[in-house]
Amino acid sequence: MLEKLIEVRGISKMYGKRKTKEKIHAVRDISFHVNRGEVLGLLGPNGAGKTSTIKMLCGLLEPDAGSIHINGLDIGRKRLKALEHISAVLEGNRNLYWRLTVRENLEYFAGNRGYSRQQVAAQTEKLLNQFHLKEKEHQLVNELSRGMQQKLAIAVALLANTDVILLDEPTLGLDVEVSYELRKILKSIVTEEQRTIIISSHDMPVVQELCDRAIIINKGEVVIDEKVENLLRLFETRAYSIKLSEKLSAEQEMKLYSRFPLSTYKASSHEGIIEVNLEHSQDIYELFDLLKEEGTVVESIDRITIDFEQVFIQIVKGGKPREVAAFVEC
Ligand SMILES: Nc1ncnc2c1ncn2[C@@H]1O[C@H](COP(=O)(O)OP(=O)(O)O)[C@@H](O)[C@H]1O
Ligand SMILES: [Mg+2]
Repeated sequence: MLEKLIEVRGISKMYGKRKTKEKIHAVRDISFHVNRGEVLGLLGPNGAGKTSTIKMLCGLLEPDAGSIHINGLDIGRKRLKALEHISAVLEGNRNLYWRLTVRENLEYFAGNRGYSRQQVAAQTEKLLNQFHLKEKEHQLVNELSRGMQQKLAIAVALLANTDVILLDEPTLGLDVEVSYELRKILKSIVTEEQRTIIISSHDMPVVQELCDRAIIINKGEVVIDEKVENLLRLFETRAYSIKLSEKLSAEQEMKLYSRFPLSTYKASSHEGIIEVNLEHSQDIYELFDLLKEEGTVVESIDRITIDFEQVFIQIVKGGKPREVAAFVEC
């Protein structure tokens, strides 16, 4: 049975600007839950409210309204007990000892968890290898690159063996190769180990590659909460762009929308373009019939990919594409 490890109910957060007394509504009535073993992506552009949400989850910020339960414990009431179940790596904040080496940091934090000497050695070795940090094991943290520090910070968070791990923008500010490497490491961890992880990111590939489910947030609100596989299936189906040598008649246009409600039709003075997302590829013949009725000539047919990223960009621009609108309503 699915076990709800985190339950967020209607949390909100406002920030006040002292000078202007203006209020910023960073998080507006957000609700979601996370099951044990699930990897949840919090996806949204800069300023969407991801960091504020994560800070509320790990007790660094108090919500103005709503509640957060972790393993059945209310953070507002049983703060310390609830927070025992969570470790977090926040954006720009790396909980490491800068004057200790990579290995010493891992050993220190493993020791802190009350592991035996043998367990400390085994855990340290495992993480050094998993995060490709073996070569740097004797280097001081303050001499490491930003990417190495980030890898170590995540390794330390995993070491704590808490029920939930929060990673706020884990690849932010890393160069392309390190970001790719970190994604691969995280991928192997989420596939091999049953960890419950929340990863916030404004970077689509991170969520697409690592997460089971994605919550897209924009302007402090949840826009979509869906399994990533469903989102991908929905947006990467059979989409075609069909160029016509003339415009559709009003009747054809009406028929088009009634038969293919998710299609779009654009017309210029002398031609028309239909973009249609077909559930079954044979549906295209119905579309041809519709065109044939009035002898409309097809100039070209191109396969188009409406991917997750395009949809995300459209959502955060404020407009919901037809597909998303229909999807959200159903
Ligand atoms: N300490 C703060 N004081 C005032 N405004 C803040 C503070 N932290 C965040 N904000 C504002 O709240 C909104 C959400 O920010 P944040 O949660 O950091 O979003 P994200 O992590 O998605 O970029 C933004 O408009 C941001 O400018
Ligand atoms: Mg942030």
